Amino acid sequence: MKRTKIIDLIRRTDYGAKVVVKGWVRTKRGSKAVCFIALNDGSTIKNVQVVADIADFDEELLKQITTGACLSVTGTLVESPGAGQSSEVHATQIELLGTCDADYPMQKKGQSFEFMRKNAHMRLRTNTFGAVMRIRHQMAYAIHTYFHEHGYCYFHTPIITASDCEGAGEMFQVTTKNLYDLKKGDDGKILYDDDFFGKQTSLTVSGQLEGELGATALGAIYTFGPTFRAENSNTPRHLAEFWMIEPEMAFIDLEELQDVEEDFIKYCVRWALDHCQDDLEFLNKMIDKSLLERLQGVCTTEFVRLDYTEGISILQDAVNKGHKFEFPVSWGMDLASEHERYLVEEHFKKPVIMSGYPKEIKAFYMKQNADGKTVQGTDVLFPQIGEIIGGSVREENYAKLMSRIEELHIPMKDMWWYLDTRRFGSCPHGGFGLGFERLMLFVTGMQNIRDVIPFPRTPGQAEF
Ligand code: 4AD
Ligand code: MG
Repeated sequence: MKRTKIIDLIRRTDYGAKVVVKGWVRTKRGSKAVCFIALNDGSTIKNVQVVADIADFDEELLKQITTGACLSVTGTLVESPGAGQSSEVHATQIELLGTCDADYPMQKKGQSFEFMRKNAHMRLRTNTFGAVMRIRHQMAYAIHTYFHEHGYCYFHTPIITASDCEGAGEMFQVTTKNLYDLKKGDDGKILYDDDFFGKQTSLTVSGQLEGELGATALGAIYTFGPTFRAENSNTPRHLAEFWMIEPEMAFIDLEELQDVEEDFIKYCVRWALDHCQDDLEFLNKMIDKSLLERLQGVCTTEFVRLDYTEGISILQDAVNKGHKFEFPVSWGMDLASEHERYLVEEHFKKPVIMSGYPKEIKAFYMKQNADGKTVQGTDVLFPQIGEIIGGSVREENYAKLMSRIEELHIPMKDMWWYLDTRRFGSCPHGGFGLGFERLMLFVTGMQNIRDVIPFPRTPGQAEF
């Protein structure tokens, strides 16, 4: 007989029907006469209650039904007299698919997140991680749906690349060379002509440069793929391997770009509220009591549009009034997370879209403003998270772009193809990158980015 998934079973009201459910034991309790087994199959946060009359089953079998064991249960669907569930399954047959050893790490409730990270291979079986992973799936689906419905083309950019888009030098190298016997030139520098690609290559930090090629041909594209950064920052917001969504649009100006950023995030959060109710309610109860309220809030508030220069004066005002920041505030500095959070959480109490940054703190490709000092970069700052989106209008003028590249001494010999977009029918365009796990942090209320991706990669951590 075909099994019924628990998500479907709990909606059924054809009491008396014969059903088969399969899943893992969350808890077992009972009296002398009956045994109650809470079974979960991952299709929903909800468990189904299996009721077994002890007299009907072999004692040895019942003994082996412990937390974590995997069962196939055949029985009758019965309207439940107990609170918290509408139906239960009265077992007529129980098959033990997999017993669970006594040292099962997810046995006890209320383990620390630190403990669960060390057991990331098993933490997926917990309520919290089940909820987070189902929401993660829904968010990925929402993102594809949003761009598909708005006429963007899903565009695949390479993971192995020879260019450093962000120019931050945080790339993981890709090589097949023998690292113990490297070919070097007379000056001691490594030669790459005998390497797999005949040049030095790395894992991508962003698909944007290739995304621009797509957008200036197809009109509007988006990427959604793994991204790698070898930044040695051990924070609750950084991963060495994360997923980024990068839309890129031709014929767009700063205001329209910001409109897309806002509309897109709101769509994703709305989607979570509409499609992940049970999981969000669980997280709201167990992880963060203000989660649902915060998600609702974001959907209905207008984001603040704030010029960098104005942001700096707000921060300076705060300092003058006695607010203490760890890092000093002055025009030209890159905002630290404490500054971003002050603006968003204390000053405006709303998400903020900032723009007009000093060119020195932003990447070479951003469109330069007429003042010669600032660029049309636009970051979205969120409560609890800080920067969730980084984007910009791109410099489409060949001469201006070249002069910035020269000023920054960026090696452009491998980027001729990028510059060609500015020579052959250049057009105004722009885009942004949303860190998928940063969005996940916001939507789930989880505190650490390591807990919203199945198997996190961070400095010193590549287990599983
Ligand atoms: O601000 P970033 O560096 O922008 C870019 O890479 C642009 N090329 C994007 C574009 O315009 N197409 O990164 C974009 C976003 C950040 O706002 C953040 O949400 C996320 O990517 N991000 C990270 N997420 C997790 N771990 C890290 N180490 C991250 N670095 C950036
Ligand atoms: Mg950024």
